[in-house]
This record gives sequence, structure tokens and C-alpha cells, in this order.
Amino acid sequence: MALIDKHKIIETNGTLLMVGALLVVTIGGIVEIAPLFYLENTIEDVEGVRPYSPLELTGREIYIREGCYVCHSQMIRPMRDEVERYGHYSLAAESKYDHPFQWGSKRTGPDLARVGGRYSDAWHVDHMTDPQSVVPESVMPKYGFLADRYIDAEYIQDLMSTHRIVGVPYTDEMIEVAQADFAAQADPDSDYDGLMARYPKAVVSNFDGQPGVTEMDALIAYLQMLGTLVDFSTFTPDASR
Ligand code: HEC
Repeated sequence: MALIDKHKIIETNGTLLMVGALLVVTIGGIVEIAPLFYLENTIEDVEGVRPYSPLELTGREIYIREGCYVCHSQMIRPMRDEVERYGHYSLAAESKYDHPFQWGSKRTGPDLARVGGRYSDAWHVDHMTDPQSVVPESVMPKYGFLADRYIDAEYIQDLMSTHRIVGVPYTDEMIEVAQADFAAQADPDSDYDGLMARYPKAVVSNFDGQPGVTEMDALIAYLQMLGTLVDFSTFTPDASR
């Protein structure tokens, strides 16, 4: 009996075909999934990645509240056109402290995974206030009201504690001094040495140029750190894992 005839037995018997298909899928599934149980961590640790500072974390909440992810992704794929436009492709580790992650699935506007440091704070204020004033054909809505909404860090400790529950390694000290760190990051005249030690590469600035901390300050603090934590001049992927 030729092999093709043997196959005919399976193909002409529905029950047999289903049992056979189930068997093949089961084996395939086990081969794919089982090794994951033996890996301690599927995310490679990368030097430089740290939890968000209190002000950045607040900005991230505003980013989510305003639905920026509806138009912006935060994941650069390892394809040449993306890497040339946006920079090094995104690493899993770079979003490991994101709860929930902001990879997104729609790019009405550009990817923002590495927007940090690309523009000045003043550019961001102008762009947020009136996107069409800097990019005439932009369809991005205006967010100028963020500069009128003053915030204090009333809930920052609760927010950080919540993130700690889901695995972000905030220390007791970080949570204890969160309100001071929050204010220090938006005030270049403050003593922000402690902040910089706890959150290396944090951008300290009076982001919106007006006194007091506004939602605009927090959002720009967040935007200015996106994708800046890993030093890609020294980064080499760990091929052993
Ligand atoms: C309706 C879709 C839409 C929404 C919602 C939206 N944007 Fe945009 N965004 C765009 C488009 C389109 C552009 C490109 C044109 C421009 O620069 O305005 C853009 C550009 C940007 C840029 C410049 C990126 C670059 O690399 O040039 C930043 C930063 C940005 N958006 C931030 C935000 C933030 C923060 C929010 C939420 C508060 C937001 N956007 C909400 C559509 C949107």
C-alpha cells in the first residue's frame, strides 16, 4: 500500500482525522511550552532599565487616561525601516515595569518608544497645546488644558505600592520619599541628588515653564525618558538565553 493510500484512510474518516490532529497539536504545544517552565526568566535583564520615577509614573497615568495609546505605539520592531526611523528596536526589558504595557496596535501618529530627548521641553509644550502649530497637517488633538491642571502627589505612594504588588521593585525608601522626589524632578533649583541616585537618567526640568507641578509637567517628564535608559553603544544581546 502506497503512503498516499494510507493517508487516505485518515482523510476519509472524520473522527480519525480529528484524533490525529489533536495528537499533533498536543505534541507541538508541549514542545513549545514545556521549556518555558524551566526558564527562570524569559526577559533578559538589561543594564540601565529602572522603575519609573514618581513624576514619570504620574505622567504615564495621564498618558493612559488621555488614550494616547489609541494613536501611538511604543514598540519598535526589528525591521530596517523602523530601526532607521525610530532607533534601536525595543527590548522586552524596556517595558518590563509597564503595568499595563503600552505597546499599542495602532500608529495614527509615530511610535513613541524612543521619543525621549528627541525634542525640547518647549517643543512638547507647543506641540501638546496646539499640534497643528508645529506640524500643520497633524490630526492630533490639543491637550493644552493639561498645563492648567495642577497636581500634588497625593496618591503617588499608593500608586507605587500597587506597582510593587505586581512586581516593580520599588524600595521602602523610594516610596517613603516619593512626594519629595515628585516635586524635585519638576524643579531644577531643588536638591535632586537623591532623586538622581534612585532614578538614574531622570530628566529634571521645569517642563512647562510655569511655577507649580502640572499634568503637563508630568506627561513631558514621562515622554522625555522614553527609550533613553539603555545605552545602546555598549549593549550586546545575551545570546546564551
Ligand atoms: C487622534 C490621534 C492622536 C492622539 C489621540 C494623540 N496623538 Fe500624538 N500624534 C498624532 C499624530 C498624527 C502625530 C504626528 C504629527 C504631529 O507631530 O503632530 C503625533 C505626534 C506626536 C508626538 C511627536 C512624535 C514624533 O516623533 O515626532 C508626540 C510626542 C505625541 N504625539 C504625543 C502624544 C501624547 C502624549 C498623546 C496623549 C496625550 C497623544 N500624542 C495623542 C496623533 C495622535
